[in-house]
Amino acid sequence: MTPPSIDRSFLDYRGFIRNHYDGLPGALTSFTGWFTGHESLAGRLIHARAFDVRGCKRILDAGCGNGRYSRFLAREADPDAKITAFDLSQNMLRRARHRLGERVSHVSADLTRLPYPDEAFDAAVCGWVLEHLPDPRPGLLSLARVLRPGGKLLLLTTEDNRTGKWCSKTWHCRTYNRAELKKVCDECGFDWGQELRFSRVHAWLNLGGIIVELRRR
Ligand SMILES: C[S@@+](CC[C@H](N)C(=O)[O-])C[C@H]1O[C@@H](n2cnc3c(N)ncnc32)[C@H](O)[C@@H]1O
Repeated sequence: MTPPSIDRSFLDYRGFIRNHYDGLPGALTSFTGWFTGHESLAGRLIHARAFDVRGCKRILDAGCGNGRYSRFLAREADPDAKITAFDLSQNMLRRARHRLGERVSHVSADLTRLPYPDEAFDAAVCGWVLEHLPDPRPGLLSLARVLRPGGKLLLLTTEDNRTGKWCSKTWHCRTYNRAELKKVCDECGFDWGQELRFSRVHAWLNLGGIIVELRRR
């Protein structure tokens, strides 16, 4: 089954994302991250017992926002690992730079047109970005291109359940069904690996969206 696209062209979508995240909703992400617990919950995923980045020397944070995941990547990665982060919104990049300083290099880029050579990264995180794209394939194909074969991707995205519907209304994005997303990931060259949860409570109540470790074939 083909996943439904959000009703917006790629051109409109880029303008929308810049306005949205350069504006008030972007400014509120620090507060909402703290309020929902996501600021600290992210640290449970970027961890040796979850998404393990030890040994990965080239790591990408795709759609880094205010640097929530980069912060934990910097904590868990080897000291000589190079961490690169990008976002479409200048204000989100500014917030991420302010938070992380020199440890992470930040660039302005679009997930669907990545300015990196093929196989440039060993691992990547793409957190809550895919649901904004009118079609997930250009984003996933870009990530598959810049990851080396065997490289891993931690993908987090909004699920088509009750809380996901609420998030999609608040953040003007779509939701994914696990089976649909699995099929699209497979089409784009990724094997579906371990599914993660923020906590047992999240697993029990089916909260926290789809969080999966993908492996580039
Ligand atoms: C919900 S925020 C998530 C930020 C961060 N990954 C996190 O989990 O905290 C979504 C981010 O994706 C960025 N974004 C959306 N579409 C993008 C694209 N095509 N290329 C780059 N960044 C994009 C937005 O600017 C925004 O900062």
